[in-house]
Amino acid sequence: MGKNPICEMLHIDYPVFQGGMAWIADAELAAAVSNAGGLGLIAAMNSNGEQLREQIRRAKTLTDRPFGVNLMLMSPFIAEAVRVVCEEKIPVVTTGAGNPQQYMNDLKAAGVKVICVVASVTLAVMVERMGASAVIAEGCESGGHVGETTTMALVPQVVDAVSIPVIAAGGIADGRGMAAALLLGAQGIQMGTRFLTAKECNVHANYKAKVIAAKDRDTIVTGKTLGHPVRALKNRMTRAFAEKEHDPNTTPGELEAMGAGALRRAAIEGDVQNGSCMCGQIAGLVRTEDSCSDIVRGICADAKKLLGAGTAQALLP
Ligand SMILES: Cc1cc2nc3c(=O)[nH]c(=O)nc-3n(C[C@H](O)[C@H](O)[C@H](O)COP(=O)(O)O)c2cc1C
Repeated sequence: MGKNPICEMLHIDYPVFQGGMAWIADAELAAAVSNAGGLGLIAAMNSNGEQLREQIRRAKTLTDRPFGVNLMLMSPFIAEAVRVVCEEKIPVVTTGAGNPQQYMNDLKAAGVKVICVVASVTLAVMVERMGASAVIAEGCESGGHVGETTTMALVPQVVDAVSIPVIAAGGIADGRGMAAALLLGAQGIQMGTRFLTAKECNVHANYKAKVIAAKDRDTIVTGKTLGHPVRALKNRMTRAFAEKEHDPNTTPGELEAMGAGALRRAAIEGDVQNGSCMCGQIAGLVRTEDSCSDIVRGICADAKKLLGAGTAQALLP
């Protein structure tokens, strides 16, 4: 039996995280992934303290395994979210969209492990200095907000630059992707797109169908001119956004207004033409709706086979 530092640190069976996904990663999905032996994460997004507490309490009724919360650092309710995470004794948070410095002391004092999503070596080194327990190196193949470096290039460079464990994210959806990530030096993986079509994922059926139908070139990155690029499936909304974005008469305010509420429109209302279907490039590999248990266990079993007994034993539990 090998020892995997992520599994040891978080008391989970498989080093597989379900990425926080605003409007999508709710108590049901997080609990299902944690019950499967991975790490489920509730997306705090812009929820206020009480809305987040409700999701956490619900997840606690669905699983007695560890699960975490994904904190969106730019949320207007971030201070409340941090307080609720500490009060509810959540063992681990992942952080995205900002600098976690301000909340690091409170979280650590409450015994919460802080794992930061990073898209560059500089940020990885910075959060390690701040006291992060691990980093999630997320390549630009991923769905949602993206950086500029691919997973293949980013992961080994982050691995070389920090001494805390690295979790690879972006473009991983099967055992081959996991095995590759581990060989690049990561000690675990995080997936978002693969979990969009999980049976326990409550995203609207139209969204799931669009992910399942997607091919390799069906995503596009928009929002670069605003400074926060987002990868989503191509549709009427992304076409209109891209057109506006390249029109010199468009103001940033107009673009912000176009993007507001767009993920909710697709994920909750099912308007997959006028909403934003955030999704990664690996969608072309996601063909079926599977249970979280089949996803987590299947991927780890396949990765083990590919790595061969010796390597797998050194890298996986
Ligand atoms: C629909 C969607 C919403 C997302 N929302 C968030 C979020 O709220 N916070 C966050 O840190 N990452 C978010 N992400 C990124 C995921 O947590 C994860 O890191 C990413 O999806 C991994 O790449 P993959 O899509 O190729 O698996 C989102 C991704 C998707 C697809």
